[in-house]
Amino acid sequence: MEIDSAVRERLTNANQTHLLAYWSELNDEQRRTLLRDINEVDFNRVQQAYDAIKHELFSEPNGHTKNEISDTIDDIMEPIPDHMAGSINEASPEQLDNYRENGLKAISEGQVCVLLLAGGQGTRLGVDYPKGMYNVGLPSGKSLYQIQAERIRRLEHLANEQFNTDSATITWFILTSEHTQEQTEKYFRSHKYFGLKRENIILFEQHTLPALNFQGKILLEEKHRLTKAADGNGGLYRALRTRGVLEKMAERHIKYVHVYGVDNILVRLADPVFIGFCLEKNADCAAKVVKKTVPTEAVGVICKVGGRFQVVEYSEISEETARRTKSESSDELLYNAGNICNHFFTLDFLQDVCQKHENELRYHVAKKKIPSVDNHGNHVSKPTEINGIKLEKFVFDVFPFSKTFAVWEVRREDEFSPLKNESGAKDTAATCRRDLMLQHVRWLQQAGADLPNDIEKHIDTTGKTCEISPLVSYAGEDLEFANGRKLDLPIFFELNTSKNNTNNSVPRNLTVVNGCTPIPIQTN
Ligand code: UTP
Repeated sequence: MEIDSAVRERLTNANQTHLLAYWSELNDEQRRTLLRDINEVDFNRVQQAYDAIKHELFSEPNGHTKNEISDTIDDIMEPIPDHMAGSINEASPEQLDNYRENGLKAISEGQVCVLLLAGGQGTRLGVDYPKGMYNVGLPSGKSLYQIQAERIRRLEHLANEQFNTDSATITWFILTSEHTQEQTEKYFRSHKYFGLKRENIILFEQHTLPALNFQGKILLEEKHRLTKAADGNGGLYRALRTRGVLEKMAERHIKYVHVYGVDNILVRLADPVFIGFCLEKNADCAAKVVKKTVPTEAVGVICKVGGRFQVVEYSEISEETARRTKSESSDELLYNAGNICNHFFTLDFLQDVCQKHENELRYHVAKKKIPSVDNHGNHVSKPTEINGIKLEKFVFDVFPFSKTFAVWEVRREDEFSPLKNESGAKDTAATCRRDLMLQHVRWLQQAGADLPNDIEKHIDTTGKTCEISPLVSYAGEDLEFANGRKLDLPIFFELNTSKNNTNNSVPRNLTVVNGCTPIPIQTN
């Protein structure tokens, strides 16, 4: 098997002929694999990406680029202007009802879809399947994907109920990657799409970029295979265009898109309150945020830099800036809008960004230890030193293109608890489980249930459980049946799918499960 001269020419022009260094050692099948990998690479894109970031590679630790950038950002950053911001804590009950009603109206008219970013590798969690399939150990055993699917079903039901329609459809677009596509597809199929209509779940795959060494040469994973890495959650915009997703949204008459990350167990998909707020602000692009826990929390904050909206990472600003307060007499941080990967876009905005600005989105560099073939032709599966870079775009890098930006602040305990780490004190399965169950305790308290004293302590320390199915309540609504009712842990409310529910103390469609055996979900 020979190498096509066109392939050689492409590699020569791209300065990547080293990819053929082991050609003579490969069998025919390996050669075919290598040629397929090479054909898939857009060398211009790789070169452009490298050119754009290479100054960052060599400026640290000897150069001053990072500090120069921080100084500059510190000097020119400003908080989000008040008229663009809203907060669930400050809005009046009437305002919140109004937002919710307008959001539900848009949902009832089929104008809202959700877009899940599920292409990440979840390296910190360390499982070999997509994070959305992870079961954090709730009594029901539900995975993140199932919880999300059920919130969609519940919200469609609420919108239909409120407006007496049956047209509420929330299409679920799921951005996958090479690492997650196949397993995600199989998982949904084998669980019968968790009761959602199959045609309303649309998976589309993001693109990859090869990993590079510091000189911009593509790293070989094996002698016959190129390294490949997902191009970051900002790869969304390219995939929206190249996979025909924008057209699908338009065909479905979708106007508003709620984009969110896979790992936040408390995520309120297509949150009608957030959507209603964005509609009132006439926002083309908006972000949901939470207050930082401490000034030095390692979270990006949303602010204005040089007149344009942007997420500034904690590492990019000085501690002094991170600690600045709104005024001398206030404890409230000036830069307190913590980004939680939860965004609203109009379809018009996405079309504009994907068609006109996608190429302008910058690449972020991650220096990593990348399993690859070293200079001596040996495959190194666990490099001890950083040996290369991955290039990623970020979903929030489209904010500067917004003409009517808005920011909606929510309560962390109600809306943000991500699953990131396998163990430790923060963002683990245990913290997700606890945060969800404590929220459900609060919902029952607000509904007037008679609960044991110090119930929160039992959940934290004795491992007792309290879970309410998303099919029963999306955000604490419709729990009146618990009013005045004495409940003891464990508590588990699930939608009863069997016709012969004989428990008269709760509405006919609900069941309380002691001992917390999960109930099979209803499949349409
Ligand atoms: P993270 O940056 O937390 O990455 O992604 P991750 O893959 O979940 O975890 P680590 O960093 O490897 O441990 C934030 C969101 O962006 C998605 C993730 O699936 C998650 O929902 N994402 C990330 C993508 O969709 N594509 C990517 O290329 C990267």
